[in-house]
Amino acid sequence: TGYITIDSGYKNTGATKSAITFLDGEEGILRYRGYPIEQLAEKSTFLEVAYLLIYGKLPTQAELDNFAGQITKHTLVHEDVRKIFDGFPSAAHPMAILSSLICSLTAFYPESVSPDLSKEEIDLNVIRLMAKISTIAAWTYKNNMGHPLNYPRNDLDYCSNFLYMMFSFPTEKYAINPTVVSALNKLLILHADHEQNCSTSTVRLVGSANASLYGSVSAGINALWGPLHGGANQEVLEMLQAIQKDGGNTQKWVDKAKDKEDSFRLMGFGHRVYKNFDPRAKIIKKAADEVLSALGIDDPLLTIAQELEQAALTDDYFIKRNIYPNVDFYSGIIYRAIGIPTEMFTVMFALGRLPGWIAQWKEMRENKEPIGRPRQVYTGELERDYVGIDQRS
Ligand code: CMC
Repeated sequence: TGYITIDSGYKNTGATKSAITFLDGEEGILRYRGYPIEQLAEKSTFLEVAYLLIYGKLPTQAELDNFAGQITKHTLVHEDVRKIFDGFPSAAHPMAILSSLICSLTAFYPESVSPDLSKEEIDLNVIRLMAKISTIAAWTYKNNMGHPLNYPRNDLDYCSNFLYMMFSFPTEKYAINPTVVSALNKLLILHADHEQNCSTSTVRLVGSANASLYGSVSAGINALWGPLHGGANQEVLEMLQAIQKDGGNTQKWVDKAKDKEDSFRLMGFGHRVYKNFDPRAKIIKKAADEVLSALGIDDPLLTIAQELEQAALTDDYFIKRNIYPNVDFYSGIIYRAIGIPTEMFTVMFALGRLPGWIAQWKEMRENKEPIGRPRQVYTGELERDYVGIDQRS
């Protein structure tokens, strides 16, 4: 069987070739299809970036209009999907509902599981997924709140429609705020892809068995939910709230994170690849300041976040290990400022990461990659004889 090398956590194993996202962890560089993340976050919109990731080029106006128009046309979900909501406990985590309902699309569109779809059929699945995830995501929140569900509005752009489905805007006073729409676009762009991270590798691995796009993405959503991955953004805010409740002593919590007897880690700090800084964190930090000042919000948690960052960045433990704030550290502050509740943070990450998952699934299919099937080094008993139950001790 040849020689098997173990690389726990795949720290040095390249799983695939990819032309989607370039990432240099030493220099803090992130580019989608060659375009620097800083330029995309500043100048683009989420749907334009989604098109770029999925189809490999920036769209012309006509291509973008068609893409956005198609997505708008498909935002309604089957009425029977609504009924599934009734089966979940009211306190269910929105990520549990999201992953289940995205998987349920394979039941509503059974043809989507075919391994031999044409380009047009794959495109339709892509559009459906991009469209329906925002409706389902907003409904997980409405369902948890016990509110009536808002149906999508076709006159609104992607981000505005999502905000409408989340919050409703019954009067002028509560009209959709352009600062909030712009912040949401930025956050989703920054999360849109990150090469072979845990959830994306999951999507590719599941997809490599010729599993459907919906099934593969549903698996990715579950991977993303883990607190060491996308679940960290919810944990960051809960950590900041815990520090606040504890009297705001950030140094005490930094010390707790350093204590090897204590499993606590500073959430929103550290990254497998970025060992100097996370370029997304830089952009988000600036965006957080802008959004808070534009909305006139004075958030004491932001002060705690700043103190925590300062305490960690000047501490030998974190300096020696190259641990810096990552994308999740400041995203929660913005989500909170624009009214997104904490338990929805990871759902927001999933909304943003979806085009990346789709692009990677598509690339894997187009490159006709073989089924992913890692090997192992067996460390168990070599061979023993079966013993009857009455003879066992
Ligand atoms: N707080 C305290 N110590 C830390 C932290 C942290 N946040 N992150 C890493 N360390 C320490 C760790 O204890 C280890 O110390 P030692 O060398 O003494 O054993 C050393 O740094 C290396 O850690 P590691 O776990 O081997 O590093 P990794 O590359 O496997 O892990 C990570 C990366 C992101 C899982 C980790 O830094 C972490 O757990 N961070 C907190 C969770 C978090 O914010 N996750 C979001 C990641 S960014 C968005 C995403 O990918 O979804």
